[in-house]
Amino acid sequence: MSVIFSGIQPSGELTIGNYLGALRNFLTFQDDHECFYCIVNQHAITVPQDPKDLIHNTRSLAALYLAVGLDPNKVTLFVQSEVPAHAQLGWILTTLSSIGELERMTQYKDKSAKQGETIPAGLLTYPPLMAADILLYQTNYVPVGDDQRQHIELTRDLAQRFNFKYGEVFAMPEIKTTVGGARVMSLQDPTKKMSKSDDNNWATIRLLDTPDVVVKKIKKAATDSEGVVRYDKEKQLGISNLMGIYNALTGDSFEAIESMYAGKNYGTFKGDIADLLVGAMTPIHERYAELIDSPELDTILTQGAEKAAAVANVTLARVEEAMGLRRK
Ligand code: TYM
Repeated sequence: MSVIFSGIQPSGELTIGNYLGALRNFLTFQDDHECFYCIVNQHAITVPQDPKDLIHNTRSLAALYLAVGLDPNKVTLFVQSEVPAHAQLGWILTTLSSIGELERMTQYKDKSAKQGETIPAGLLTYPPLMAADILLYQTNYVPVGDDQRQHIELTRDLAQRFNFKYGEVFAMPEIKTTVGGARVMSLQDPTKKMSKSDDNNWATIRLLDTPDVVVKKIKKAATDSEGVVRYDKEKQLGISNLMGIYNALTGDSFEAIESMYAGKNYGTFKGDIADLLVGAMTPIHERYAELIDSPELDTILTQGAEKAAAVANVTLARVEEAMGLRRK
C-alpha cells in the first residue's frame, strides 16, 4: 500500500484555502492508502506563539481533521511534538542542507524581506524539518497546496543526497495537488495567497466562519469592472480566484462556469459561491461541535502518536546506523 503523509500548522484558524488545497483531499486516500496526518506544532513555533492559543489551535485542528470525515481507525492522526523522531531527523537533515539552498526558498525570501536580520533562524531551517516529517514514514505521496511545491522538491533533493551518501534508506516522495483549490488567493488582494495569518479578516474565509460571515466576505471580495464571469488571470484575478473556489467545490470546469454565468452579474455568481461554501461547511461545523470538547479526541491523538512513533523510529534507527550515530 502506498504511504501518504501531510501536515498542517496549528498557527491560526484554518481557511478555505487549507481546506480546498489540502485537508479535503486527505479524505480521498484513507480507504486505500496508509495515511499519516500530522499537526505540525514544531513548525508553528518558528514564529512566536501564545502557549494557550497554540494548545487550543492544536486540539481545534485535530477536531477539524476528524470533522471533515477522516476516520481514526483508518488513518494515523498525531501531533508532531509527541513523536520526537521528527526533531531528531530534522536536525540530521539540517546538517545535510546548505545555507544557499535554504535561502532560496521563496517562503523564506518573502518573510526575510519583511523582517531583515531579526528573522527567526527556525524559518530558515524549517524545510529540513518538513523533509524529516515526510521521509520518516517512507512516504510516496504528499497531498498539499501548490505553495508547498518547492519544499517537496527540497525534500526529494535531501532524500537523494542522503541515499547517495549513506545507502538507500528513504523512499522518494511526490507532490499531489488539486486543480481549482491548489492555490486559493486572498479575497481582498488576489495577487497574494489566502493565508491563516493574514491580519485583514476580509481576506480569508475561515473554515469555522458562520454562514452570514461567509456571505458578507464573499460579497466584499475584490472583483473588477469587466462585468463578465471569465477565467482570465491577467485581467480578472479576483473573478478567476472565485472561479477556482467554485471549481474546487463542484468539479465544474472553467468553461462550464463561464457559460453558466454568461449574461449574469457578479452578485448572482457570488451568491451561488457563498451557498456552495455554506453547504460544504455546515456538516463540518456540526461534527466539530461534537468533537472539540470530547475526551475521545485526546485518546485518538495519544494512540496516533504511538502508532506514528513505531514507524518513524524504524527509519530513524536506519538513518543513525548508516551515519555512524549508533554504537551497535
Ligand atoms: P500550512 O499549515 O501553511 O497549510 C496547510 C496546507 O494548506 C495548503 N494551503 C493552501 N492551499 C491552497 N490555497 C491556499 N491559499 C493555501 N494555503 C495553505 C498548504 O499547501 C498545505 O498543504 N509547510 C506546511 C506544513 C507542513 C507539511 C509537512 C506539509 C509541515 N510539514 C509535511 C506536508 C508534509 C505548511 O506550512 O502548511
